[in-house]
Amino acid sequence: MNVLITGGAGFIGSHVVRLFVEKYPDYNIYNLDALTYAGNLENLKDIEGFPNYTFIKGDINDSGFINQLFQDYQFDAVIHLAAESHVDRSISDPLAFVKTNIIGTVNLLNAAKETWADNLENKLFYHISTDEVYGTLGEGLFKETTAYDPNSPYSASKASSDHFVRAYGETYGLPHIITNCSNNYGQNQFPEKLIPLFINNIINNKSLPVYGDGNYTRDWLYVKDHALAIDLVFHKGEHGETYNIGGFNEWKNIDLVKVLCAQMDKKLSRPVGTSEELITYVKDRPGHDLRYAIDASKINTELGWKPSVTFEEGLEITIDWYLKNEKWLNNVTSGEYKNYYKKQYS
Ligand code: NAD
Ligand code: DAU
Repeated sequence: MNVLITGGAGFIGSHVVRLFVEKYPDYNIYNLDALTYAGNLENLKDIEGFPNYTFIKGDINDSGFINQLFQDYQFDAVIHLAAESHVDRSISDPLAFVKTNIIGTVNLLNAAKETWADNLENKLFYHISTDEVYGTLGEGLFKETTAYDPNSPYSASKASSDHFVRAYGETYGLPHIITNCSNNYGQNQFPEKLIPLFINNIINNKSLPVYGDGNYTRDWLYVKDHALAIDLVFHKGEHGETYNIGGFNEWKNIDLVKVLCAQMDKKLSRPVGTSEELITYVKDRPGHDLRYAIDASKINTELGWKPSVTFEEGLEITIDWYLKNEKWLNNVTSGEYKNYYKKQYS
């Protein structure tokens, strides 16, 4: 089987690529990534030489290139993760999100539709999406049947791409699955997102900018558990279906930040309370969704998935990894890796 994974040099994508390359030696895994600021081949250094792994540098916004790629490699399945993924960036530059998340996704759908036109059997277009498409939550949990109600340019672009995937299923019969997942954390996450940003700032004694009053709730999932869920859905999920994936693990931002601060004090052997002193309440994110929380009972009962690590375990693994990989942190924030791989793949 020829499997195209887009965005494989990014945070979640790198864990998915590694899992598939190691677990399925009979599959040919193609990792297509534009290596934006968020993409980093250092994340996959350990599997670089595997015979079933190929990296392709390219942009999903380039429809000519994408069409040719599908012709050349005759992919049987696509796991689509490439995206602009950071909400704050979507507020300052919405168009970048329209381009990659909507137009890029439609480019891939078109190429899959054309290449698979004669034989749709055993083909799959699997879109990795987000719980943010459901908007902000009051009581209860997001279910697969919750109406889409996106509030940020990021979530609007992901909602749109989900709709296009479904529409290609309805209109052209394209076999597809969508999963909507909650907030991931773990190794290789770019330090613009809450957990790695705050770890990096604590290491460097910089302030911790908590948006608004900090009483916003997110449902956190360890990234390797997300990758395992993707593996399961890819192989066992029903075509045409949507599955929600979450950690059964809700935290108010401020409570999570305080736990993180306490852990960091311990790990860095700093006096209790040192990191908490760095907390600074700053201007709120515009359109900030109050609460996300996933009802993951469908994937649990139908496919048997549940998170394998507790939040305490996952957070400790994550902190240890960032402390051991300060060079990675310095290089991704300074653009060092980007410059290195740019030269290799220009
Ligand atoms: P990321 O920003 O870490 O990685 C995105 C990757 O896509 C990068 O390697 C980047 O180089 C690549 N990319 C960006 N634009 C591209 C383009 N035009 N062409 C080719 N490659 C391009 O993102 P992530 O956090 O790993 O998220 C991956 C996917 O999962 C996204 O679709 C995101 O919406 C979704 N998601 C993320 C989370 C989360 O908590 N991070 C939760 C649910 C869903
Ligand atoms: O829910 C899934 C989504 O989770 C994914 O689709 C997105 O790609 C991913 O970025 C993430 O979105 P969030 O906006 O929830 O993640 P972020 O880490 O940016 O913020 C988490 C919470 O912390 C949110 O309520 C905003 C807050 N925050 C974030 C940053 C970066 C702060 O208070 N201060 C900060 O500096």
